[in-house]
Amino acid sequence: MKIGIDKIGFYIPQYYVDMNKLAEARGVEPEKLTIGIGQEKMAIAPITQDPVTLAANAALQILDDESLEKIDFVMFGTESGIDQSKSAGVYVHQLLGLRPDARTIEMKQACYGATAAIQLAKGHIALNPESKVLVLASDIARYGLHTAGEVTQGAGAVALIISANPRIMALDDISAYLTKDIMDFWRPTYSDVAFVDGKFSNEQYLAFFGQVWKEYKEKSGLSIADFEAICYHLPYTKIGLKALRTILEEGSTDVQEKLKDNYHISTLYGRKVGNIYTASLYLSLLSLLDQKELEAGARIGLFSYGSGAVGEFFSGILQSNYRDFLKIDHHTNLFNNRTELSVSKYEMVFEESLPTDGSSVDVDTTNDPAPICLTGINEHMRQYTNKNK
Ligand code: COA
Repeated sequence: MKIGIDKIGFYIPQYYVDMNKLAEARGVEPEKLTIGIGQEKMAIAPITQDPVTLAANAALQILDDESLEKIDFVMFGTESGIDQSKSAGVYVHQLLGLRPDARTIEMKQACYGATAAIQLAKGHIALNPESKVLVLASDIARYGLHTAGEVTQGAGAVALIISANPRIMALDDISAYLTKDIMDFWRPTYSDVAFVDGKFSNEQYLAFFGQVWKEYKEKSGLSIADFEAICYHLPYTKIGLKALRTILEEGSTDVQEKLKDNYHISTLYGRKVGNIYTASLYLSLLSLLDQKELEAGARIGLFSYGSGAVGEFFSGILQSNYRDFLKIDHHTNLFNNRTELSVSKYEMVFEESLPTDGSSVDVDTTNDPAPICLTGINEHMRQYTNKNK
């Protein structure tokens, strides 16, 4: 039985900052950010958007009557969760009106959470072929103003429906994964910004890629020539290119050119969004699928990396007419309708935060075009609205 991605939805908040202007404000050459890091724009979430609302807005695009009836498992991958106990998925379950007899949980392992969810979803579908699983990947990446990581922040979500006989991509059974206890990036419970050893993290990302790629090839008997494209988890777009370069020599000149071209296309969305942690790999996949017509039957490789660290290389096969099931126009509109923030306005939005002393607050959602928004906190409980309801 084929199991894989039946639908993909995506959401980004309404604001972004231009990296050329951020470079100027931080006193660095713009090329460091646009070429050295490989980012053009960075998505900024207003206070009315959090990982719950971003995920719910992404999922709204892909839900129809059939999926509402069949989704019986919701897994929410995030590393910027809003509660240490309650799953962010339960809020989304209510906001989307999913069936009450669905199981709902949150998955955490840095940027790897959504990949873990997809792999578990495969097992669930294998046992329950009529079911569909909603996998949510949603994060707001925060390192802090004036930090080295600042230029690799971002905000957004990807939602995927995993099912039997998927219409977009059937996942291969083979995959290779690795866990190692390292401190390259983490966020203690008392901090709302991540701690990161950027150089060490880059080294580990490349080392993990090398190891899981080698193991995947041994397990599968496949080689680089079997791939139409390889999509990467992209904390910033330059890092995936570095990883790709480590294996390019395994292929002919034609294979190298094809993989480089398709890599570039897979980074176009990420360049305009920034790091969205758990959702970042799936944004790379979406960027490629939306912007290039590939042949059905083509194999796409996927490298997932979650600091701390867990890495995985897996793959999938594109299905006939898969492009008919993408929401390309909607994604184009999301990008076209964004508003640029000046650097000083970005700093204000970044620093605006919900109270952490237990007090209640209402926030004004009038200027937020998103259907699903955070409206405040009341007696320690987050309040949300779905304006469509
Ligand atoms: N033109 C072109 N490239 C330039 C440049 C210029 N004028 N100035 C610098 N660069 C290049 C550097 O050569 C370097 O490229 P290289 O990596 O290929 O050597 C790149 O820009 C970045 O410069 P660097 O000095 O390393 O930047 P930095 O010290 O500010 O740190 C990160 C960059 C990415 C390490 C930092 O932003 C970070 O830690 N981000 C978080 C990463 C993360 O999230 N990791 C965990 C999840 S996987």
